[in-house]
Amino acid sequence: MEQKESMSRRDALKTMGAIVTTAALSTTGLSAFAAPAKKEDGRTAPGNRLIFYFTATGNSLYVARELAGEGGRLFSIPQIIKEERLDFEADEIGFVFPDYAASAPLMVREFVNKAHFKAKYIFSVITFGNFAANVADWWDEFCKAKGLENQYINTLLMVDNYLPVFDMNEQVKIDKKIPDNLAAIVDDIHGHKQFIAHFEQMDERMQGFLKRLQENHFPMEAERLLRLNTETCIACGTCAAVCPHGNFRMTDTHAEFSGSCEYCLACVHACPQKALTLERERNPQARFRNENVSLRDIKEANHQK
Ligand SMILES: Cc1cc2nc3c(=O)[nH]c(=O)nc-3n(C[C@H](O)[C@H](O)[C@H](O)COP(=O)(O)O)c2cc1C
Repeated sequence: MEQKESMSRRDALKTMGAIVTTAALSTTGLSAFAAPAKKEDGRTAPGNRLIFYFTATGNSLYVARELAGEGGRLFSIPQIIKEERLDFEADEIGFVFPDYAASAPLMVREFVNKAHFKAKYIFSVITFGNFAANVADWWDEFCKAKGLENQYINTLLMVDNYLPVFDMNEQVKIDKKIPDNLAAIVDDIHGHKQFIAHFEQMDERMQGFLKRLQENHFPMEAERLLRLNTETCIACGTCAAVCPHGNFRMTDTHAEFSGSCEYCLACVHACPQKALTLERERNPQARFRNENVSLRDIKEANHQK
């Protein structure tokens, strides 16, 4: 699959805009953010839209960018979560993140737990690869428990980056109708549609199974989850740069890792040597990154100081 290493000028400017905004917030210590009101054709213009995203392999970043359009502002959750004050106000606030076991990455949950949001229209788009189940209902309930009411929650089928089960070479060949489905979601949100993608086929067995997944999530220590081939690792630091938890350090010869892990697999997918693997994988030679997103974009979104 062709991967775009370099950013287009438009993407570069947009990413820089988000970084500058975040940097400005960091340097002033002011994390409360109020976007100026701006209306067009009776709809709220994307200029007054804040989007918070989490991504490992770029699917959710791509969707977040498409939703931001020319004027919306993008914030990477692994970056913005480090701010002391997390108060956000805008006409529209959105969340974009991958489905992890019919729920959200832990850092996304933590962000919503910590932050305060005020907006007339709140929306979420959850990217998934195979089976979204009741993730929209789960997210709706999760947010409501924090006093956050979504007007719109939808799911978008994309490449499934879960390496224990899927072969990336096979996944990228499947036509998941992403452009059409994404365009429909963008239109819904521009039109302030009220919608929650309810999961209808919920019997008792399914309910129990999903509840266990959502409560237990995954084992969380990087040292238990990841395997490193120290012979092929060249200590290039890519894993360190893409890890949203900052779990990696470089020695002269190879990477070392430890700490709380999302199991997002950003490090495994991005390793140029394929030196990082999991204990069980469908195809250890196949890795994925969304074709509209560069490695640099993922580093900029996730790197920790
Ligand atoms: C730990 C983990 C758990 C996942 N669980 C699910 C799941 O339950 N259902 C599903 O359809 N996709 C699941 N996926 C696939 C991702 O949700 C999907 O590939 C997503 O678009 C990746 O987004 P990203 O490229 O922004 O990281 C999972 C992926 C990972 C890494």
